[in-house]
Amino acid sequence: MADKKARLTVDGLDDVIELPVYSGTEGPDVIDVRPLTGQGLFTYDPGFVSTAACESKITYIDGGKGVLLHGGYPIEQLAENSDYLEVCYLLLNGELPTPEQKEEFVSTVKRHTMIHEQMNHFFNGFRRDAHPMAIMVAVVGALSAFYHDSLDIDNAHHREVCAYRLIAKMPTLAAMCYKYSIGMPFQYPRNDLNYAENFLHMMFGNPCEEYKPNPVLAKAMDKIFLLHADHEQNASTSTVRLAGSSGANPFACIASGVAALWGPAHGGANEAVLTMLEEIGDEANIPDFIERAKDPEDSFRLMGFGHRVYRNFDPRAKVMKQTCDEVLAELGIENDPMLKIAKRLEQIALEDEYFVKRKLYPNVDFYSGIILKAIGIPTNMFTVIFALSRTIGWISHWSEFHSSPNKIGRPRQLYTGPSKRDYKK
Ligand code: CMC
Repeated sequence: MADKKARLTVDGLDDVIELPVYSGTEGPDVIDVRPLTGQGLFTYDPGFVSTAACESKITYIDGGKGVLLHGGYPIEQLAENSDYLEVCYLLLNGELPTPEQKEEFVSTVKRHTMIHEQMNHFFNGFRRDAHPMAIMVAVVGALSAFYHDSLDIDNAHHREVCAYRLIAKMPTLAAMCYKYSIGMPFQYPRNDLNYAENFLHMMFGNPCEEYKPNPVLAKAMDKIFLLHADHEQNASTSTVRLAGSSGANPFACIASGVAALWGPAHGGANEAVLTMLEEIGDEANIPDFIERAKDPEDSFRLMGFGHRVYRNFDPRAKVMKQTCDEVLAELGIENDPMLKIAKRLEQIALEDEYFVKRKLYPNVDFYSGIILKAIGIPTNMFTVIFALSRTIGWISHWSEFHSSPNKIGRPRQLYTGPSKRDYKK
């Protein structure tokens, strides 16, 4: 598989070190640096800016061109023609399903949406004002205490069952977090509804009357799930792969992904966008916040802007912006003051030299936060919704990792602490 070679000379070493170079189907070639260890050298790449940590067939991103492909299919085409569960199938299996395969997949997911009744008691242990992500980390990890029958990670069927369970149960758990926080009874899933409609029912329904999901909002919800489904080796997915590399059970690995996602530089950004818009409060205050974002002495950043990989535009943000307009029109709230601030901020940032020069465009979370707020989802649930959407990406990567020969992940370091010294008695 090594098509080419890289040659490295290092001061103090006589020999030129030859390193194999591999080409993927798309994207930059990678230099296999493993022979360096034999020469007493490590590579140094904090933040994994230029390190390919694995080989993968699931998702491809070209950040410079704003391209995102799942199984080779552009995200814009999937968003237009497909739906979340179909994309789940694609991520798990590498191919889009036939109509029969899709029907079977959807029906299998539907048959796994309920949560073990005993799990309800877990929620009672939390304060009602706990952050729902804190509850999610705990209850997702707790799934491993209930579903022992499918924990053999070397068994392909067990891995598949775990994937079904996770796809099916995450919306139920997410909605339970919300219902618990407002003191309302949990809603059992409904099999007559589709995935997104069922989630809205579990979030906003109550036992006293039948909930009728708004089709425009359900479609927007499905699009949010779909656009967040996978994003190759981001921080949370890499966390899941690393946790999985130790042989930890899948539910524990996904819980580690939920934890990694929570940070504001990653999945917490959609919540941070709304908090920032509230803090700005008025269009008149925007220039001050823009100045703060540009000030290198100030840690404040414009939330929902910029991306490690996309240096042109985020293709998901384009679709999300369109969905955002549809939702606002459906709900007749185009004049919401918060949205006005968001639109003005977007316009100023797109024109300001600081942002233009650094290629800081609105990312997917800028618009998804606005849509979720319009749908009536509380801000602290935003990252939970990202977690439920990304679960398919996490479990697909976890499964891919275990489907081929693998090694425990163990990064090295550049040690700059004290050299060996003696303890003085
Ligand atoms: N506001 C102001 N300045 C920014 C921002 C921002 N949002 N993002 C980057 N910069 C500046 C940064 O200060 C740096 O400037 P300089 O070159 O003068 O030092 C330059 O742009 C490059 O930034 P960086 O920190 O090297 O970029 P990164 O790749 O390490 O960070 C990021 C990427 C997403 C963490 C960052 O852009 C950020 O913090 N954005 C806000 C949080 C956010 O919206 N995150 C969601 C990402 S999309 C969802 C997901 O995939 O998780």
